[in-house]
Amino acid sequence: MPDHPLAHAAFPAARFRRLRRTAALRDLVQENRLSVANLIWPVFIRDGEGVEEPVASMPGVVRRSLDRLIVAAREARDLGIPAICLFPYTDPALRTEDCAEAWNPANLTNRAIRRLKAEVPDIAVMTDVALDPYNALGHDGLVRDGVILNDETNAALVRMALAQAEAGADILGPSDMMDGRIGAMRAALEAAGHRDVAILSYAAKYASAFYGPFRDAVGAGTRLVGDKKTYQMNPGNSDEALRLVARDLAEGADMVMVKPGMPYLDICRRVKDAFGVPTFAYQVSGEYAMIRAAAERGWIDGEKAMVESLLAFRRAGCDGILTYFAPAVARMLAESA
Ligand code: PBG
Repeated sequence: MPDHPLAHAAFPAARFRRLRRTAALRDLVQENRLSVANLIWPVFIRDGEGVEEPVASMPGVVRRSLDRLIVAAREARDLGIPAICLFPYTDPALRTEDCAEAWNPANLTNRAIRRLKAEVPDIAVMTDVALDPYNALGHDGLVRDGVILNDETNAALVRMALAQAEAGADILGPSDMMDGRIGAMRAALEAAGHRDVAILSYAAKYASAFYGPFRDAVGAGTRLVGDKKTYQMNPGNSDEALRLVARDLAEGADMVMVKPGMPYLDICRRVKDAFGVPTFAYQVSGEYAMIRAAAERGWIDGEKAMVESLLAFRRAGCDGILTYFAPAVARMLAESA
């Protein structure tokens, strides 16, 4: 018997290629798998009727009016995708420095939640809790004299979260990176009787260049004054991610996220190993755009790169992935089943 779990016989007794010889054998010993159940689909929404407006920097991704969102959600549900995550493109006239549209019970996101819960009740609805789609200055928090205000932002985020819970959201996704927001939201949800609303905290969210196409999609890119480095994480840090996850769990998060995804797989693995909680990665807009752009030029096989990139998250310990590829990969998985 080998005395170390990784000890094995020497060549030629050990030939690893024996188990790679046929597809059946490879399948039999595959350690990690991608399933449609692992997917959360981020969707951009906008006002109007019958509109599907392409996002230039994200080929294949559109901003949908709510009637088209319902159609897309039905398709996603029929493919077996368990959850959809809403991101609004807000009318520029509604973007203000106080961000009041964020907690308007009748804002685009809250109307979308109500319609989804009424018309496609069996898909879980996740939201984004952050002020950037409503902020004249493009930041996730309230800004005074160029400074992002932490505690004042938390009060605004609580109002926003309550409005989303009231509309029927299943999962709240605070992506703002203020300190203390999870505890504040959890306390407010309990007090308002929303005991079963889950929080998937963007716990380890890095200040990343890979969000560029997303900011185009929600119309926040050209507005953003400065950068997000005073609240999002420094890409050089790793231990800090564990402290943030511990903090958010202690404050009442049910699930945690690492974001972006592929450049931060080491963080996914550390989080999963350290906490064993439901762990998600966000394969962000720039990651999607890179794969799509290279595929369009014929430089890589887009479908294979998509599947390989998603399988990598499973290997790194993630329970699930937020990905713009969700419907495409769900269709592929359905065909190969
Ligand atoms: C903002 C938010 C961002 C993303 C999700 N929520 C962008 C940012 O922090 O600037 C990025 C998602 C993506 O790039 O796909 N609250």
